[in-house]
Amino acid sequence: MVHEVRHLGRVVGEEVELRGWLAGKRSSGKIAFLQVRDGSGRVQAVASRADVAAEAWEQIQAVTQESTLWLQGTVKADSRAPGGVEIHATDFRVDDLSPEFPIAPKEHGVAFLMDHRHLWLRSTRQHATLRVRSEVVQAIRDFFYARDYTLIDSPILTPAACEGTSTLFETDYFGDKAYLSQSGQLYLEPAAAALGKVYCFGPTFRAEKSKTRRHLTEFWMVEPEVAFLEFPGLCDLAEEFVRELVGRVLERCPADLEALERDPSMLETVAEPFPRITYTEAVERLVAAGKPLAWGEDFGAEHETAIAEQFGRPVMISHFPTAIKAFYMQPDPEDPKVVLGLDVIAPEGYGEIIGGSQRIHDHDLLLARIREHDLPQEAFQWYLDIRRYGTFPHSGFGMGLERFVAWMCGVDHLRETIPYPRMLHRIYP
Ligand code: 4AD
Ligand code: MG
Repeated sequence: MVHEVRHLGRVVGEEVELRGWLAGKRSSGKIAFLQVRDGSGRVQAVASRADVAAEAWEQIQAVTQESTLWLQGTVKADSRAPGGVEIHATDFRVDDLSPEFPIAPKEHGVAFLMDHRHLWLRSTRQHATLRVRSEVVQAIRDFFYARDYTLIDSPILTPAACEGTSTLFETDYFGDKAYLSQSGQLYLEPAAAALGKVYCFGPTFRAEKSKTRRHLTEFWMVEPEVAFLEFPGLCDLAEEFVRELVGRVLERCPADLEALERDPSMLETVAEPFPRITYTEAVERLVAAGKPLAWGEDFGAEHETAIAEQFGRPVMISHFPTAIKAFYMQPDPEDPKVVLGLDVIAPEGYGEIIGGSQRIHDHDLLLARIREHDLPQEAFQWYLDIRRYGTFPHSGFGMGLERFVAWMCGVDHLRETIPYPRMLHRIYP
């Protein structure tokens, strides 16, 4: 029976079969050490010339990196080995001999690796990062499922902008214009009136024309939206959410974090309450830290990093100037120059992971905002309807999955946190 490498610890002493690929090999005339990966993990198989048939020994000599292989052997406990086991091979066969693999265990340039993303996925760090991503996705779904949210899938083809018109991808829709969704939020708000607590989770698109390590043109966003939730409750929800997801990674992904050389203590800081400051306080702190910013300007990456450095754990920044935020954000009733908007900034320079707000629920104010932002009113008529038929205060946020995963894994560019990254001038493979 073919076993998965991840479960070999359960069958110590038994004879097993494995199918997989060769990750690496060291060999002398008498003994060979084969690094075997099968997708579930890696294990070392030791083969000695004396213990296998001549034909198997020949195949072991011939096998190249990333060849497909089959082997049989006995599982031995070895406390020094990753996973705690090693295989003593008794039989071996190459099923497909791979020509020289482009990604050898040496340094390659980023452009080369990106062109070979379909093969790069096999590397240890990429494998670990994608496993963390998968765990985070499951944790997100579990978080909302446990709290009785209903999943509402927002459309990807949309007639209008959500987050400003400068980053829209336009496409032809039978002679009309359509845009790839920048956020599912506008479609979640009506669903909140139907179902109370809802969330969407899917790909979103921004035609980001600048090259930065924090921007993809296609990324995944998870967005909850809750009827009758007001701003303080929104901040609590975001904090609880981040803490739970980080906890899940710490609990379920220790081996992946280790493969990534990610120090878990950097993530354990989320146990403490997250500092909550206003935009105005953030500007004051930046001025004091020698990174001055005029009140009313938006933060750049360096400002977010400078603020985050002061705390060493996620920081919540709120009450941004109305002029720099999206049209739908609720003005602060005590000071309408600012909105009830929230950003959560991750530590260690990972930047904004969450953006959210309480939404305007007054019809006329929302209409005025749509006009001020030069948005086509016809395209938003349905959205305004939510403020006509039983309007209600409500709030929500969006978290970028890749930003969160980058922070968990300690990888400094978002391109490694999604299987096939889409960026400025990058759509292959
Ligand atoms: O702050 P943003 O633009 O907020 C919204 O889209 C709201 N409509 C969400 C809501 O309230 N339901 O984006 C939310 C998050 C950011 O905090 C960031 O994590 C991520 O989406 N994000 C990106 N991630 C990767 N590449 C990009 N180009 C991103 N733009 C935003
Ligand atoms: Mg934002």
